[in-house]
Amino acid sequence: MRILKIIVLHGPNLNLLGTREPEVYGKLKLKEINSALKKRGEDLEVVVDCYQSNHEGTLIDRIQDAAKDCHGILINPAALTHYSYALRDALSASDLPLVEVHLSNVFAREPFRHNSVISPVADGIICGLGLDSYLLGLEALVNIVKNR
Ligand code: DQA
Repeated sequence: MRILKIIVLHGPNLNLLGTREPEVYGKLKLKEINSALKKRGEDLEVVVDCYQSNHEGTLIDRIQDAAKDCHGILINPAALTHYSYALRDALSASDLPLVEVHLSNVFAREPFRHNSVISPVADGIICGLGLDSYLLGLEALVNIVKNR
């Protein structure tokens, strides 16, 4: 049986979760989100690798590496969602199954958050459900990978 590996990417400022606008993003710390994802990954029999960066280029490097040894990408691109064509191009070039997630309901927030340049190259998008956005996103991504 082949071992499936999923990379979870978190964009800028998500290292501050827990203290950053908890009324918007909740009280969970990033390491708690990562632990929950790894645990769900075990249930789903996939390896989950988590990575956060505040730097666009570093995330792009990680995506290029993922194309070599991962089977799917779960990403919360954070603010890069709304303007990073470079991140979008890297995700598109990876040709890996892709699910975009957001903790908050971006459509209920400022207008600049209503547009995602990532969504057109994603297989699916989940937002507004806090930790569940990530966990449901992981489950959906694993289904996509297994059925591809
Ligand atoms: C976010 C929403 C983005 O608009 C914002 O810039 C973030 C977090 C979310 O998870 O709700 O940093 O991606």
